[in-house]
Amino acid sequence: MTVHWVKLELDVAAFDAPRFERYVSRCRADGIRLATLAELGDTPEHRRALYDLNKECSADIPERGEFYSFEEYAERRFEAAGYDPRGVVIALDGETWVGMAATSVHGDFVFNEMTGVRAGYRGRGIAIAMKTLGLEFAKQCGAATVRTFHHPANASAIAMNRRMGFVDAED
Ligand SMILES: CC(C)(COP(=O)(O)OP(=O)(O)OC[C@H]1O[C@@H](n2cnc3c(N)ncnc32)[C@H](O)[C@@H]1OP(=O)(O)O)[C@@H](O)C(=O)NCCC(=O)NCCS
Repeated sequence: MTVHWVKLELDVAAFDAPRFERYVSRCRADGIRLATLAELGDTPEHRRALYDLNKECSADIPERGEFYSFEEYAERRFEAAGYDPRGVVIALDGETWVGMAATSVHGDFVFNEMTGVRAGYRGRGIAIAMKTLGLEFAKQCGAATVRTFHHPANASAIAMNRRMGFVDAED
């Protein structure tokens, strides 16, 4: 059966950052640290930790199927031209990685590669906080839009993006 992906985009200049910065403050007040992979160190150990977290969160994406091997993931994510560790935001509870929001850069747009939060940490605004920092990165890159697409059954991810101002993209 053909999947009709929900394609969304956000105008970077129109993003209402002050409205969403309270999610960042709330995370920090809750003891959740937010840092980019560049800040944490783009090391082999951290790449592996990102893979593990991505794999765990991706299991909840409707019809995602089997996840990549680490080698496939590394080629797609870390070797890709659009990869920039400053655009990968991690949420940490102590030393434990509990969330990720990864982007890639493509000239005038930034693509949302993956946003995921460990099941026990969902519903606390962590995803929006990470993506708000990701939007700052998109702005620094000079990107006009952020793009993403989701499986139509991924209601939480679609709602999360619409909450931040993403609208249906024109084909
Ligand atoms: C999607 C996901 C990242 C959201 O993480 P989260 O930290 O729980 O999200 P937040 O708490 O920041 O919620 C952000 C907004 O998303 C929406 N939302 C989140 N979970 C929702 C749910 N279960 N149902 C409906 N809306 C939901 C709400 O609008 C919420 O804002 P609000 O609480 O102010 O109303 C998380 O559910 C997840 O990891 N899912 C599995 C991986 C995935 O599908 N990723 C997206 C594909 S890239």
